[in-house]
Amino acid sequence: MTTETTPLNDIIAARIAEQGRITFADFMAACLYEPGLGYYTSPGRKVGAEGDFYTSITVHGAFGRVIAREIAQMWRSMERPVVFTLVECGAGNGRLACDIMDFLAEREPDMYGGLRLVLVEQEPSLESAQREMLAAHSDRLAWCSPDDFASGAFTFSGCLFSNELIDALPVHRVVMTSCGLKEVYVTCKDGAFVEEAGELSTAEIAAYLDRIAVELHPGQQAEVNLNAPKWLASASRALTRGFIVTIDYGYPAAELYTPRRKLGTLLCYYRHQIEENPYLRLGLQDITTHVDFTTLMKCGELYGLHNDWFGEQYRFLLSAGIVEEIEENERSARSDEEKLRLRLTIKKLILPDGGMGETFKVLIQSRGVNAPQLLCRRGIGG
Ligand SMILES: C[S@@+](CC[C@H](N)C(=O)[O-])C[C@H]1O[C@@H](n2cnc3c(N)ncnc32)[C@H](O)[C@@H]1O
Repeated sequence: MTTETTPLNDIIAARIAEQGRITFADFMAACLYEPGLGYYTSPGRKVGAEGDFYTSITVHGAFGRVIAREIAQMWRSMERPVVFTLVECGAGNGRLACDIMDFLAEREPDMYGGLRLVLVEQEPSLESAQREMLAAHSDRLAWCSPDDFASGAFTFSGCLFSNELIDALPVHRVVMTSCGLKEVYVTCKDGAFVEEAGELSTAEIAAYLDRIAVELHPGQQAEVNLNAPKWLASASRALTRGFIVTIDYGYPAAELYTPRRKLGTLLCYYRHQIEENPYLRLGLQDITTHVDFTTLMKCGELYGLHNDWFGEQYRFLLSAGIVEEIEENERSARSDEEKLRLRLTIKKLILPDGGMGETFKVLIQSRGVNAPQLLCRRGIGG
């Protein structure tokens, strides 16, 4: 286990020396997003074989193509509007958007004619990779900064999607003590980062847990992602009509905050190894937490969204067309070995054990669309 220090150690330590202990959310924000030094804001490949973790997008293009099938169905449910805007938040290098656009260009020419794509990404330097990835669709490509997205200046009608965005947002951490609910702060002692419990930094934390009726057990630690409902508020403000598709790993609140998860869900990833200590390799390892989908659904309703569908990724993929994708890919496979490799790869997206099928969930919310006929609603085998 390496304990290598990075320039972020000094920056965060100086911040603590100046202003006193900081919340875990501020610590995590620095580790992930400090300009030029954070995990997502510094150069280097993060996702895929050469990075630190895989996402469904890097497993196989069929993932994006199935989402595209569902998006085409959304367009039909909205009575085929002439202009339809796709927005991806947390677009990374643009791979998912590219798989979706390729499918729509190929299979849905009527829709593609009026399609535009807007990418929202915290790290602006990824724009050149996105431009290159999406070169075939450059005439319909635009960008919106997260600040403009949050300001309410940007509005659209169509579909906003994200894959593994919410799990990458900084979280507060709390612990239930004999003196009630306390927040976990980060401070420095003898040159090392240490945690200490204190009063909640904001009343929003208690309000968050009240909204989902969660009361932690004595000794239980948990994360509270205040950025998730804030992001959804921005997304729902931006959406005049259409859908929001959120794909990520997580659970409904009752399952996420169960006393069985005594230490919460915070995990770090470094070169495909799981690490539990967030105070190592600051800015070089990813820090993530599981998503509380109950909050997204409850807040969505408060913001005027309709919850259309929520379920495991495998259910979504199977009912929205992954079998058709496998069959089509197999037809173009050159050998039996290639066919087998294809099946095994795609299985990763669906399988519960060791795959991404069960922990990963899909939430579809909408505004202003009456009883949409979504493919995922047909059920498996439908
Ligand atoms: C875990 S990565 C996922 C990347 C890609 N969606 C995938 O599945 O491979 C999360 C991405 O979200 C970006 N991000 C974080 N906060 C964001 C925000 N508020 N708005 C837009 N992008 C954000 C990060 O910079 C990072 O590229």
